[in-house]
Amino acid sequence: NTPLSAIQEEVLALKKERNAVILAHNYQVEEIQRVADYVGDSLGLAYRAEEADADCIVFCGVHFMAETAKIVNPDKPVLLPDMDAGCSLSDSCPAEKLAEYKEAHPDVYVVAYINCSAAVKALTDVICTSGNAMKIVEKVPEDRPILFVPDQNLGQWVSKQTGREMQLWPGSCYAHVLFTQQSIERLKLKFPDALVVAHPECVETVRDNADEVCSTEKMVGFCRDSEAKEFIVVTETGMIHRLQREVPDKTFIAGPTDTCACNECRFMKMNTIEKLRDCLKNMSPQIEMPEDIRRKAYDPIKRMLEWSK
Ligand code: 13P
Ligand code: SF4
Repeated sequence: NTPLSAIQEEVLALKKERNAVILAHNYQVEEIQRVADYVGDSLGLAYRAEEADADCIVFCGVHFMAETAKIVNPDKPVLLPDMDAGCSLSDSCPAEKLAEYKEAHPDVYVVAYINCSAAVKALTDVICTSGNAMKIVEKVPEDRPILFVPDQNLGQWVSKQTGREMQLWPGSCYAHVLFTQQSIERLKLKFPDALVVAHPECVETVRDNADEVCSTEKMVGFCRDSEAKEFIVVTETGMIHRLQREVPDKTFIAGPTDTCACNECRFMKMNTIEKLRDCLKNMSPQIEMPEDIRRKAYDPIKRMLEWSK
């Protein structure tokens, strides 16, 4: 356990001064994870944001995650170290396109993966994350046709698990679709005893051949409880820091793509420890959104938080 750097100490001092809480996603760089009050998946972070009693929330993740924190906390400043930290999956479903679809299919029940903009959330019936998607879809009234946005891979996986037919929006995560079964098999030749743990945003062949498919948070529990000692972790590499910290007696190997030994989300990596310090110093950049959108986006988030308890 290396001591904190001067800049990490500075972040902690500013955090205290501002009475802020730092929430960080599992994909953040280790330097940030180590100064966060909570590190977790989208679901855990949404709960922590909802119950936050600090004066200010600093969200170290991507834009839609910080936006979700603002939707449930309209009166608190929500800071995002880099405003350009977007998400390719979120971008694959523009609100205007979803509005058009809904107009043409008025009966549809829209289940949205949390990786979407506030404007899209405002058009949906319920939100889900990779950690609760099955539970949420099972609660949708049987007589309504479901449209699942924006991740076709997660949607396909949930549909297979629940047996519920769903129309799938043709979106995907640019980083997760780069993992291939071929590249994983090649790595398995080197680590024949390793179990493969994959995120549901991966393509079907990768999911079908994995030993476990789950959200980033559930990966921690799975690897801790499993008898196996080695794991190939098929998701963004930041996850390895969290696993090594919490399950120190086991070995974690980053899932490879065809061209790279590991895979990073360029958006998640836009946040740096310097930008985290600066946003706390300047109380900027902050998430803002029109109040009518915020109010409409709140209901499906609230429904998710209640349904997934
Ligand atoms: P989790 O909710 O499983 O952490 O996933 C978030 C995400 O963006 C995956 O790419
Ligand atoms: Fe979006 Fe993919 Fe990055 Fe997750 S890993 S934030 S889904 S681009």
